Amino acid sequence: MHPDIQQILLNPEQIQARVIELGRQITADYRDQDLLAVGILKGAAIFFADLIRAIRIPVAMDFIAISSYGASSQSTGVHRIIKDLDESIAGRHVLLVEDIVDSGLTLRFLREYLAHREAASVRTCVLLDKPSRRLTEVTVDYCGFSIPDEFVVGYGLDYAEKYRNLPYLGVLRGEAQLSEG
Ligand code: IMP
Ligand code: MG
Repeated sequence: MHPDIQQILLNPEQIQARVIELGRQITADYRDQDLLAVGILKGAAIFFADLIRAIRIPVAMDFIAISSYGASSQSTGVHRIIKDLDESIAGRHVLLVEDIVDSGLTLRFLREYLAHREAASVRTCVLLDKPSRRLTEVTVDYCGFSIPDEFVVGYGLDYAEKYRNLPYLGVLRGEAQLSEG
């Protein structure tokens, strides 16, 4: 285990088993529909790659990137599009794929942003949900795991761009969040 990790919350086997279930559910719900999965960079990249391989119907992919709140663990609610979608979403069924929903501000911003682009539907799929931290109401249509209010890293999630490559989801030690480097 990485020395900055206090505790493993979800191991690779637990994550994969849940991703397979989500893929099955999405496959059933979107049968015969033009599905476009949109990954939110960078945190959702690893989850996204596993999830779309668990979907058994044709699925197109695209990515969007918005400004994050850097090394701080507080959401500002202020967002800027850094990388926009490549394709038009008009008339398509969009599945927004995110790593974690915390305050809910990011997902709400993106839902509203996409709503103005004439998608046939917009649903959200998140790997992790921290419901106790919500500042705004946002609908999560597919959720991997509900977790307690801890700062987690790994499987795509970072702290100051570190730990994304850990194969598990772990709770980051408080000391690792204070020290710079
Ligand atoms: P929200 O706008 O507060 O819901 O923030 C969602 C974003 O905050 C996610 O896309 C993550 O980038 C980041 N985030 C929130 N909680 C964590 C965490 O525990 N670990 C890593 N990133 C987090
Ligand atoms: Mg993110």
